[in-house]
Amino acid sequence: MSLRLRLNLLIAALNLGFLAALTWMQVDSHRNSIHEEIAAAHRVTVQMLSTAAQTSRIYGSVPATMVNFLQGLGRIRANEIRFHSADGAIRYVSPPSTYKTGRSAPEWFENLMRPNLDATVIGLDGDGVTRIEIVPDASRAILDAWDSMSEIFMLGLGFFIVLHSALLLFLRRLLRPTEADVEKLVITTQELAENREVTRLIQDGIEEERKRLARELHDELGQSVTAIRLIATSLARSADATNLAQGAGKINEIAAGLYDCVHRIVRELRPAVLEQPDLATALNDLVQEWRSRHRDIELVLKLEGDLGDLGEALTLGVFRSVQEALTNVLKHAGADRIWLSVIRRDGSIEVCIEDDGSGQAKKLSGSGHGLVGMRERMMALGGRVSAGKRPEGGFRVKIELPLSGESR
Ligand SMILES: Nc1ncnc2c1ncn2[C@@H]1O[C@H](COP(=O)(O)OP(=O)(O)O)[C@@H](O)[C@H]1O
Ligand SMILES: [Mg+2]
Repeated sequence: MSLRLRLNLLIAALNLGFLAALTWMQVDSHRNSIHEEIAAAHRVTVQMLSTAAQTSRIYGSVPATMVNFLQGLGRIRANEIRFHSADGAIRYVSPPSTYKTGRSAPEWFENLMRPNLDATVIGLDGDGVTRIEIVPDASRAILDAWDSMSEIFMLGLGFFIVLHSALLLFLRRLLRPTEADVEKLVITTQELAENREVTRLIQDGIEEERKRLARELHDELGQSVTAIRLIATSLARSADATNLAQGAGKINEIAAGLYDCVHRIVRELRPAVLEQPDLATALNDLVQEWRSRHRDIELVLKLEGDLGDLGEALTLGVFRSVQEALTNVLKHAGADRIWLSVIRRDGSIEVCIEDDGSGQAKKLSGSGHGLVGMRERMMALGGRVSAGKRPEGGFRVKIELPLSGESR
């Protein structure tokens, strides 16, 4: 159920409750006043007719005098008077009220409001056959109450409808999202989608890295360990001292290679840069290691300014970006020379990785996550990345990063 509908229902229920309470109070107060009024009128009528009956005895024939008297009297408010003669017939009934003639309140309302008053009988002879019967008649008072309550009820209902319609309109306007809300919602949705994309890229990256490590472990460690085992098996069979010495030398050589390989993998997984946040040292190590592995490509390094106090996030961010850019050169460029420069300027760091390779000549191959990841990472640090073909040929990745207050 929507919030608007729930609010509407709640307000309607409160309104109807209020209307019901008001109606009940009206019913109660009208019922009490009708009872009071009819009882008083009945009492007065009974007293008057009792006195008249007693007085009429002085004038001889009581019935005839009384009928005359009653006919002269006509209607008495809120009472019906009937005269029962000695032969059992009703000789006289007081005329009906002329007030609001022809109309009466609905039966259920009359039943609800009618006061519980009995008729009074005044006997005119010894055996009580000749008698005046005075019946309380609340129908006019009840009709008055009905009319007045209907008016109030209709007024209340009208008020309820007007109030509720106004509230509906007001709530609709109040709960309608503003343009700013919609804009915010759109931005949030976009951000969510981007976040999902980044999460996917990160997952892909992790998977890619796992594959690479598995490949490296299989190719480098697997082969070396197999070689050691083969040599060890043949040594075990050989009794020749020269063979033994040669085998031991070989094992030593392979083991040294293994050590280098493990060392390299460990360094890639957790570079020295993390142990000691000094970008210059980390980049120098990286470049040295890179040069030793790729002797056919010249890697020119230029570091300017103090790169020792940049903080872990920034240091690692730049380090990983340089790693990715260098890997890209190997993967995509076919370059002879790479220029890597990291320069600290006033309040910013500028990183540039250029090569003299093919540029982005080939169709976009590969998984295409490296540059996206780099961009995300740098954006998170408040920086930006531009990457593309150089006018003079080759490829360039440029990163600009602002320095936060403490590292300025
Ligand atoms: N140094 C470079 N020389 C030529 N093309 C490059 C170079 N670096 C990146 N590219 C191009 O940009 C694309 C995107 O790179 P990247 O996002 O790292 O994805 P991947 O390396 O997985 O392909 C590469 O596929 C490649 O076509
Ligand atoms: Mg890449």
